[in-house]
Amino acid sequence: MSINEGYTLTVLGAGVMGSAVLSAILASKPSPFPGKIYCCTGSESSAQRLQTTYGESVIATFGKDNVKPVEEADVIILGCKPYMCQAIIDSVKSALNSDKIVISLLAGWTIEQLQNVSGTSYIARVMTNTPAKYGCGTAIVSFSNDLQDSKFDSTRDSIMKIVDTVGMAMELPEKNMDAATSLVGSGPAFVLLMMQALAEGGVRMGIPYETAKKCAAKVMEGTAKMVLESGQHPEALKSMVCTPGGTTIGGLMVLEDKGIRGSISRAVEEAANIASSLGKK
Ligand SMILES: NC(=O)c1ccc[n+]([C@@H]2O[C@H](COP(=O)([O-])OP(=O)(O)OC[C@H]3O[C@@H](n4cnc5c(N)ncnc54)[C@H](OP(=O)(O)O)[C@@H]3O)[C@@H](O)[C@H]2O)c1
Ligand SMILES: *[C@@H]1O[C@H](CO)[C@@H](O)[C@H](O)[C@H]1NC(C)=O
Repeated sequence: MSINEGYTLTVLGAGVMGSAVLSAILASKPSPFPGKIYCCTGSESSAQRLQTTYGESVIATFGKDNVKPVEEADVIILGCKPYMCQAIIDSVKSALNSDKIVISLLAGWTIEQLQNVSGTSYIARVMTNTPAKYGCGTAIVSFSNDLQDSKFDSTRDSIMKIVDTVGMAMELPEKNMDAATSLVGSGPAFVLLMMQALAEGGVRMGIPYETAKKCAAKVMEGTAKMVLESGQHPEALKSMVCTPGGTTIGGLMVLEDKGIRGSISRAVEEAANIASSLGKK
């Protein structure tokens, strides 16, 4: 079950997420690199749009023509809507066999459910987010038991390289997927709320909105970079910004008084609990 140079990759459901991952793979050219790429959609118009977007590097198909791409695939990236997964897999069932590697981008589908519906035991369940579209996505990957065997070390490594193209990929056990759905999947919405609040504070104090918005976004980008590149603890970096008796510590005390820290952590907890309850339905 190794992924060899020139393998065939089929994106089953090349919508927003599927295309984001596909674009990332084409842009970063991870090794092994696919020799043939299919992208499958539900409609002729989407297939035509994808063919125009990607040109000769892919073969776009729809409907009944999705059977052949699935049959030829060594690796399938599953990018359909979660509620359509069963029907879409059923429509290509004849082409599936236990040798395929499935990389699922679907929220809420467990590895066991994916194994049952696809008939293959080699599953990588991925939770990623919309910044993937800009090469700055975060992805959490969980592997099925069968893929965790040491004889599949290089296969897992290849899958991590494929997923890492969206920005950054890290592995966690599946029990952490609901938390990842919240932190990684919903995280951008939480950060956007903070960003808007920062910008509006600037507006309140007289900065034009467009400038305030760009400043807020860049402050968050720069801060994130500082944490990732220095490897330092956020609290240590934060204390360096606080001049004794200065502006920053004054602002931070207001945030602490309002319980911002707990609110944000609880938001992650709540979204993870909702992800878990949706999964049980
Ligand atoms: N968007 C996000 O922010 C986000 C974040 C994290 C995870 N996800 C996960 O990503 C997955 C995809 O979401 P999305 O927003 O990318 O959805 P989407 O844009 O609606 O994409 C769904 C794709 O499936 C295709 N499709 C429909 N019927 C098909 C069929 N019979 N055979 C093959 N393909 C078919 C659609 O083609 P047509 O265009 O022809 O209908 C479309 O290309 C979801 O499972 C979601 O949980 C999304
Ligand atoms: C998967 O299939 C097995 C064997 O048929 C069954 O015992 C199990 O309950 C199924 N799991 C899910 C999540 O559907």
